[in-house]
Amino acid sequence: MLNILMIEDDREDAELIMARLSSPMKINSKVTVAGRLCEGLELLKAGSFELVLLDLGLPDCRGIETYKKLCAEFPYMPVIVLSGLDDETIATEAVKHGAQDYLVKGSINSDMLIRCIRYAIERHEIRMAGLKHIERRKRAEEELKELNRILETRVAGEVEKHRQKEQLLIQQSKMAAMGEMIGNIAHQWKQPLNALGIIIGDILDAYDFGELDRTYLEEIVDQSREQISFMSKTIDDFRNFLKPSKAKTNFDVKIAVAEVLSILWPQFRTNFISFVINCNNHNKTFNNLSDVICCNDMIISTYKNEFAQVILNIITNAKDAIIESRENGYMNKADEGIIIIDCARKPDSVLITIRDNGGGIPDGIMDRIFEPYFTTKSDDKGTGIGLYMAKTIIENNLYGTLTARNVDGGAEFTITVPAKTQT
Ligand SMILES: Nc1ncnc2c1ncn2[C@@H]1O[C@H](COP(=O)(O)OP(=O)(O)OP(=O)(O)O)[C@@H](O)[C@H]1O
Ligand SMILES: [Mg+2]
Repeated sequence: MLNILMIEDDREDAELIMARLSSPMKINSKVTVAGRLCEGLELLKAGSFELVLLDLGLPDCRGIETYKKLCAEFPYMPVIVLSGLDDETIATEAVKHGAQDYLVKGSINSDMLIRCIRYAIERHEIRMAGLKHIERRKRAEEELKELNRILETRVAGEVEKHRQKEQLLIQQSKMAAMGEMIGNIAHQWKQPLNALGIIIGDILDAYDFGELDRTYLEEIVDQSREQISFMSKTIDDFRNFLKPSKAKTNFDVKIAVAEVLSILWPQFRTNFISFVINCNNHNKTFNNLSDVICCNDMIISTYKNEFAQVILNIITNAKDAIIESRENGYMNKADEGIIIIDCARKPDSVLITIRDNGGGIPDGIMDRIFEPYFTTKSDDKGTGIGLYMAKTIIENNLYGTLTARNVDGGAEFTITVPAKTQT
């Protein structure tokens, strides 16, 4: 049963159309008639009509406006416009605006009316199916967008978590380095503190022996100042070393390595460990910074302190391996520990290898040494983040590589970093 609303003020016309519709075998329909547009709109609001037959010349509205008003309130209602002979142009315009069809009232026959209604219903169904399809696609697109948004937020969250974890590890690694540094500072300060103690004691002796004149005092003040400035410089060196680098700088790799060695040197001397730095086949045993030839051929551009921290981690591991080797009898207590550092300039990169004679990385752990928190040392001696940090810094910040292998008598770590093109 097709529920039709006819909005038509002319009774005769309405009856004529109803008669055409009700002719036998034609269409199973129920027609409700409204004489005014406002009445028709009220009925549409209340009822469930499937089609509207609309006259454009109603008492409360005329012409194309009639269609437009209905359409504004019920945009998805299929409408067939009924036009008199005199307003066919307006009826055509209504079709242009979306009406399904128009019928000229004077010349409607039953067949034409039925066909027109059937086509209108079919066209409407096709249109609605199209609209539903578009709607579904829009919804799917919206869902996809939402999914993407959720994924993006999740990825951003994970990235942030990862960054925070890395920050924490860097911090922990810094704290470990700091502990090591404090040991070094204490070591470096011992001598000047002793010297100051002696100088102060000497003032008292000089007074007792009547030697406390201006020349003596000037000498003593100079000596004290010298010791104090040495101590103060040590502190500055360590502080600079631990500060995070704010910006990338250009620096020579071998100088940076030598600076790290100069900081570690006192502690290594106590443990009977020596260094050799080989620069592009130019062998040099390390004594002090000025020993490293400055030929500026190994310039890289990066965060210097982070790079220094990598070198510090690897060299500290070498020191630990040598000490442990002596403890477990692999090396004699009197055997000299030795750490050899080769710096070489390749066409596009700088290669640094750090080799020790501490017995090498134990069997079976080679694959794990770069994992965070992997350590073979006891709790107070190692946290297991040194090499993880070193690899992260070299590979993520410096776009280089860090690898390890065992060589004769010890371990060898190789760092490659892109070189800065020389100008
Ligand atoms: N030069 C080396 N010789 C032998 N084993 C080494 C050497 N360097 C590293 N290793 C092994 O790799 C492990 C991981 O080193 P890593 O520097 O990451 O941690 P750690 O030294 O144990 O602790 P820390 O966090 O204090 O550095 C060490 O525990 C040690 O077993
Ligand atoms: Mg370590």
